[in-house]
Amino acid sequence: MSEQREQKFDLIENNTNAVRAVMTAVESTIGPKGLDTMLVDQAGNVVITNDGVTILNLMEVSHPVARMLIHSINAQQDAVGDGTTTAALMAGEMVITGLEQVKKGVPVAQVLTGLRYGVKEACRLMEREAVLVGSLDTGQLYNIAYVAGREDTSIASLIMEGARLIGQEKLLDSGFRFSQQVHAVEGADSEVLNGVYITKERLTRQMPLELQGDLKVMVLDDALEQEELNSSALATESGFQQYLVLKEEFKTNIQKLISTGVQAVFADRGVDDAAAEMLEEAGVLVVARVPHRELEELAEHCGAKMLKRTSLQKSAEELKKQFGTASNIIGSEKLHSIKVLGGRGKAMATILVGATTGEVVGEKERIAKDAAASVQSALQRGLVAGGGAAELAVARQLEQNKNALSGMAVFGADCVIAALKKPFMQIVTNAGFNPLEKLGDVHRAQELQQNTHLSINCDTGRIDDLYISGVVDPLYVKLHGLKTAGEVAEAILRINIIVKKKEYQQI
Ligand SMILES: Nc1ncnc2c1ncn2[C@@H]1O[C@H](COP(=O)(O)OP(=O)(O)OP(=O)(O)O)[C@@H](O)[C@H]1O
Ligand SMILES: [Mg+2]
Repeated sequence: MSEQREQKFDLIENNTNAVRAVMTAVESTIGPKGLDTMLVDQAGNVVITNDGVTILNLMEVSHPVARMLIHSINAQQDAVGDGTTTAALMAGEMVITGLEQVKKGVPVAQVLTGLRYGVKEACRLMEREAVLVGSLDTGQLYNIAYVAGREDTSIASLIMEGARLIGQEKLLDSGFRFSQQVHAVEGADSEVLNGVYITKERLTRQMPLELQGDLKVMVLDDALEQEELNSSALATESGFQQYLVLKEEFKTNIQKLISTGVQAVFADRGVDDAAAEMLEEAGVLVVARVPHRELEELAEHCGAKMLKRTSLQKSAEELKKQFGTASNIIGSEKLHSIKVLGGRGKAMATILVGATTGEVVGEKERIAKDAAASVQSALQRGLVAGGGAAELAVARQLEQNKNALSGMAVFGADCVIAALKKPFMQIVTNAGFNPLEKLGDVHRAQELQQNTHLSINCDTGRIDDLYISGVVDPLYVKLHGLKTAGEVAEAILRINIIVKKKEYQQI
């Protein structure tokens, strides 16, 4: 064998091993019987999780190909919020089978042609498997939340309650991310709030902890402080005089603010001490340094305008018009947070997931966010039978359609077929069954009964119509997973050589 060819084989071997290592890290977590992984850093900090993308992001990885794979799985998480383990396994399988074929002598270009065709065709066939959801009242949406939410009935119910509160129209809005409404809080009770959750406390303990009525709420996208003068101006006599004038003006503005009858002020940044004192005396609740996203939600929910501090120069009447309204504000000293409920603006649901200990907060939040993202995605694009049923049905059809390809490109389509089978194989392996035997059983059953919803139900180990049993996954999660896997596999297969770059040097 020539030296060049030998080097190429070494590279293939090396890349295959890197991809296999990534797959090994997540494969035991997939499916209802998947186990958790515990990750520990040098300081002894522990993360326990079942979530593919979380494991991959916390792993120490230096191989460039493994990093590419992890990077693409993050894209799956960002776009659809679930299905990261499925995508990682499919991508890994595509790469490994692709590299094996290159090793056997199939030209990379042919593998890539077949792979591209396979992914496109698989997506088309997968779309044909989809069932549209129609409305929020469909029981299948609860099932989606239940499956994506790791069979946690209370999380699934919370997510559906939140979805109903937010309403179908908002959930169908592609700019709205339902999963962002989910917060897990240590020590909190699980509940769905008709309002927003602010992760900050009142500025002083003398300010009211709870308020109710027709509450006037000011949302300040700024600091509640007087205008600043630069230090060189302050050093001059006239500058100092100007400072005193501004200070007086600021005080007058705060008095004017109080005269509006405002009951709560939420500011994006800091609040001047003197202003805080005046507001406290007037019984106004002031909250400083509210995260920007929470402030935006608050403004939307209460129907308030986000004001800058220059607005304080407006008349009291003008100012009042910019306030929002809420019916209840409830602070919690224990949780260092505030709930603002019953806003007059847009309906807003915040899903609070209680967790007993710090270690499980993160995992609860990941699970609930996965469930929320899946419900929204299923409502938008429909759903398919889970447990690998849809993938196996698509694999069978692709097996026939691939004959449209000419020459060795067929081997590329085989990579996609192998990838489509992989999640099923791993789900049943994790449930303690023989994957090859079960694969044969499911293929035969789907064929004989002409039913592509059939697969192994891991709760019983038997063939079942998973659509009827409510084991369903959102279509978009599957489509995105396939595309992600195809893109990263193609990128990795294209690599002919890896050269270590020189360290960056300043010239
Ligand atoms: N009772 C069941 N029998 C068979 N398969 C099931 C059952 N319940 C769920 N599944 C399947 O398990 C898969 C989901 O597993 P899991 O949530 O571990 O992985 P993921 O969604 O790909 O990744 P992650 O949630 O880590 O981002 C889906 O394909 C789902 O249909
Ligand atoms: Mg999942």
